[in-house]
Amino acid sequence: MKPFKVAVLGCGTVGGGVARIMLERKEALALSAGRPVELAALVDLFPVRSAARHGLPIGLFGGESDLSGAQAAARTDAILADPEIDLVVETMGGTSDYVRGVCERVLAAGKHLATANKALLAERGDELFAAADKAGKALGFEAAVCGAIPVIRVVKEGFAGDEVLSISGIMNGTSNYILSKMTAEGIGFDEALKLAQEKGYAEADPTLDVGGGDAGHKLSILVRLAFGLAGANRTLAVSGVSDVTKADLRVAAEMDCAIKLICHAQRSGDIVYASVGPMMVKRSNFLSRIDGATNAVRAMNRYSGEHILVGKGAGSLETGSAIVADIVSIARYGERIVNPAARPGPQLRNMDELPFPYTVLFDTADVPGITGLVTTAIGDQGINIDTVGHNMHSGEAAVFAVETMPCTRSSILKAIAVIRAHRADIFRAEPKIFPVLY
Ligand code: NDP
Ligand code: HSE
Repeated sequence: MKPFKVAVLGCGTVGGGVARIMLERKEALALSAGRPVELAALVDLFPVRSAARHGLPIGLFGGESDLSGAQAAARTDAILADPEIDLVVETMGGTSDYVRGVCERVLAAGKHLATANKALLAERGDELFAAADKAGKALGFEAAVCGAIPVIRVVKEGFAGDEVLSISGIMNGTSNYILSKMTAEGIGFDEALKLAQEKGYAEADPTLDVGGGDAGHKLSILVRLAFGLAGANRTLAVSGVSDVTKADLRVAAEMDCAIKLICHAQRSGDIVYASVGPMMVKRSNFLSRIDGATNAVRAMNRYSGEHILVGKGAGSLETGSAIVADIVSIARYGERIVNPAARPGPQLRNMDELPFPYTVLFDTADVPGITGLVTTAIGDQGINIDTVGHNMHSGEAAVFAVETMPCTRSSILKAIAVIRAHRADIFRAEPKIFPVLY
């Protein structure tokens, strides 16, 4: 049978992993796909370096010399014009006009596309899925959300007979690694980020990881699949972990919690409430025990109830395996694969609009009656307090945490504004507000 031929554009961490798995598992992939699957060409700017890094034959790169951007573009054009190539893997990353243009041209050239590029899918997914539909080709993106975890396949295929009510989880390995290292080893944020970068977890621009943007991209892709919501990335409320301190993590531990960067989306009729941000996760919730670069997704469905997926969210062979799964599936089903459609109707709203339990961390002057002042202001907003914890005072500073029963964030902000109006002098730092996940 005619082999299904694949070209990989960008042979870095992920592209190199794809190429290596395709070569190592050639026979097994042919059995799964029902036809031979062949790695036909690789494009990278530094072929010798990439070939050595991933143990790949230099011949697949078309030559040994380093390529300029123009030379790489010319080699890419030749691949797009080659009728023998069935599928192109885009693992260059980023949302430049060049990368977006290449993806569109792959589809327009009548080839299937597989990509791990969540930033591009979150920002330009509508156009890309439309281009794939117009061309009648498949767009594989299993690797774009939570690396090796087959969450796209599970939501798209496994949940096809059900209705997703909510979806949440830890979807950025870098942030989770940083928080875990800061908690377990007491190291600072910068040192932990450097370690995550050395391990290859972080994006080329790590502010996407620590600012919550990368997790936001993944949640935007998932809400399209789970709820049919298009363009979520434009308005999704996102915050990251760069302001979480060792002191916050210590207080969290004393409140029987771990601080985690949580993606959360839940549907109520045609409204999807969603956000990405640091939450205090109670120790009884399994997400509090997901450490390192591991990712975890929890879905609640109408008929089948709770589902939990846990696995590697990043890494060369880990993420590469997810792209290879797309390749096999597309080689097997080809044009019969249905790309995920957005549905008219669903509206995105910020999770802040839903009543939620919160922990508010106060760092104030150590003056008599300070906890009374704070808790009275909170009570005056009709907020019921669950716990006041971790009362630590040093003569200069009083650091304490107030955990509330479900309320809106805006009511907490009003309470803080009232305290400030009475005693603007007592805050040593802006109070920090964390939703609490049970
Ligand atoms: P890398 O930077 O490691 O790899 C990108 C590769 O593409 C590099 O080798 C780069 O060369 C090469 N490249 C850049 N421009 C061109 C070009 N014009 N033509 C050909 N090759 C080019 O990134 P990753 O592999 O980590 O990420 C790739 C994608 O996968 C991103 O979209 C990322 O978000 C996504 N992803 C990454 C994960 C991970 O674990 N790393 C996990 C899940 C998704 P050079 O190094 O010289 O610039
Ligand atoms: N930078 C991403 C992370 C890679 O840390 O999770 C996987 O998407």
